[in-house]
Amino acid sequence: MPSSRKPQRLVVLVSGSGTNLQSLIDAAQDPAYGAVVVAVGADRDDIEGLARAERAGIPTFVRTVKQFTSREHWDRALADTVAAFEPDLVVLAGFMKLVGEDFLDRFAGRTVNTHPALCPSFPGTNGPADALAYGVKVTGATLFVVDGGVDTGPIVAQAVVPVEDDDDVETLHERIKVAERDMLVENVGRLAREGITITDRKVRFGA
Ligand code: GRF
Repeated sequence: MPSSRKPQRLVVLVSGSGTNLQSLIDAAQDPAYGAVVVAVGADRDDIEGLARAERAGIPTFVRTVKQFTSREHWDRALADTVAAFEPDLVVLAGFMKLVGEDFLDRFAGRTVNTHPALCPSFPGTNGPADALAYGVKVTGATLFVVDGGVDTGPIVAQAVVPVEDDDDVETLHERIKVAERDMLVENVGRLAREGITITDRKVRFGA
């Protein structure tokens, strides 16, 4: 059913190759998707994620922690810059920094993050490696609403991926990323078109 909402404005934050970002950029080409990527930000320079945005004609910005005298100042500057693009939704797509209090105050309930593991298992920056080392038979990816913890927020969607006997971290992470991109595109689109309601951690589509 076509949505009667106006296209939702997405600001996407990245730290690396930006393949999740690319999937969102591609999906947003279709007006029926219900969202447009209005800006892409990063915590570091010279990454493929920023190059992807530039090739698509999307404004970019970089705010590195080193540019600021404290983590708090960085967080506030990041939040100010994001706010200037008037986003309806902020998508952390492979953004390898924790956002702080200022950021969360400004964008609470409308910032989502994708993590390459099945939350609450294996939080942090080494999800695929930790899952492999533990010996789990399935892992996957989780899209969640960001809160003040490390990969602890209410879960919007999860995708399950098998672990193969001969996997190394790279092959496993690549398999996760294929499922992660589909999950991200499908669910960010639904979020944009339908909104969400969160009750006792349970996320349901529909405002
Ligand atoms: C994704 O698996 C994301 O969940 C993790 O890093 C990866 C980023 O991939 N934090 P890309 O930059 O979107 O290609």
